[in-house]
Amino acid sequence: MFKYEEHLGYLLLGFLLFFSFAVVTTYIVPEISAQNIKETAETVHYTDQQNAGRQIYMREGCVWCHSQVVRTGEENLATFFRRGEIGSVTTPAWYAAQNPVLIEQHRRGPDLSHVWTRWPSITWQKMHFQNPEQLNPGTWMPPFSYLSDKDQDDLLAYLQTLR
Ligand code: HEC
Repeated sequence: MFKYEEHLGYLLLGFLLFFSFAVVTTYIVPEISAQNIKETAETVHYTDQQNAGRQIYMREGCVWCHSQVVRTGEENLATFFRRGEIGSVTTPAWYAAQNPVLIEQHRRGPDLSHVWTRWPSITWQKMHFQNPEQLNPGTWMPPFSYLSDKDQDDLLAYLQTLR
């Protein structure tokens, strides 16, 4: 009769192999390839104001609804540089000085790469922060009217860097 107790070693071995494989592929390999990214002329270094905006962007949770990934995909052409045009391609070097990198995969709102090319208006952006619903009825972007003027300016300075 097959006795499970006698084969527990195989089960443990299988588990360890699977677990090590998962650690190598999801943690070690990406970590090593990230360390190999060198800064180039393309690397973005934020000014103090842009950096402050970036902190607000993380603090206010913009990052949970907006990605910054230029993706191909016909259905999303409108979210790129201009309608039908993908714009400059983002390269790993671009992010070399960023920690954490805010590419994100969530997209409850539109992708914000090149957002400034699409909406290059401080007035529009500020009205949108005040009350998104007024500009885009039905949106689930919450209003950020409680942000101070300075916070909004910092945030806008950061949004202008996204590409
Ligand atoms: C709960 C999800 C959510 C959060 C949080 C959120 N947004 Fe949005 N955002 C959206 C949605 C949905 C839209 C599309 C409709 C609209 O314009 O309101 C949008 C649109 C935008 C747009 C216009 C983009 C375009 O291409 O039309 C900008 C800019 C923007 N958001 C910036 C921000 C910033 C900055 C924050 C943080 C202060 C933020 N969002 C937080 C969901 C969100």
